[in-house]
Amino acid sequence: MENIITIDGPSGVGKGTVSLKIAEYLRWHILDSGALYRVLALVAKRNQVDMDDEIKLIELATKLDIQFIPLVNKLQIIYAGQDIAVEIRDETYGKMASKIAVKPEIRKALLARQRAFYTSPGLVADGRDMGTIVFPKAKYKFFLIASCEERALRRYKQLINIGIYVKLSELAVEIASRDQRDSTRTTAPLIAASDALTIDTTKLSIEEVVERILKNISKRA
Ligand code: C5P
Repeated sequence: MENIITIDGPSGVGKGTVSLKIAEYLRWHILDSGALYRVLALVAKRNQVDMDDEIKLIELATKLDIQFIPLVNKLQIIYAGQDIAVEIRDETYGKMASKIAVKPEIRKALLARQRAFYTSPGLVADGRDMGTIVFPKAKYKFFLIASCEERALRRYKQLINIGIYVKLSELAVEIASRDQRDSTRTTAPLIAASDALTIDTTKLSIEEVVERILKNISKRA
């Protein structure tokens, strides 16, 4: 698949921001797959569906109708006619999403929805299993990493920026436990695809990461 870029990696590494910039630059579509899991958690909460009620969660997952609309350095996430991008960024939904995401049947229910985002002229997809499971045939695969401290700080700044106030120390603990759960689950764990290029972004700015990715793509195009 010539026109898919997958960007995977742990929480707070900057995948979302990098993906948005690349998608805007190339004028390609964008899939923030983590948002699907977060929205599912939000919808479950709104409908008072228990996190262990797999049947109901699968039903909600198959009906999930989400649109991603880039808007100058911002990604609007539209669900039921509303932009819920800020609401789902709360770590409550991150944690719920990660708990939902361990269930293979729910992942299966979301697979077709994720693949449907692939339309012309191309797609930038970010998440945990974009390069391994959802788009294994993507031509361009990247896996971003950064130290735990740096990732907690990045997520902290991102949340403060959108008006969500959290304690850095608590956020660091939550992110570490989410990463642990995401990396050790049996279905689609957080892991670099064997043909992905891993980039340690700890000491890089967003612009530097974007530049590296675009350079790598143009070298291989
Ligand atoms: O990327 P984000 O922090 O929004 O993802 C929230 C959670 O959704 C992750 O911690 C992970 O458990 C789950 N997820 C996943 N597979 C993806 C994207 C996200 O399991 N492709």
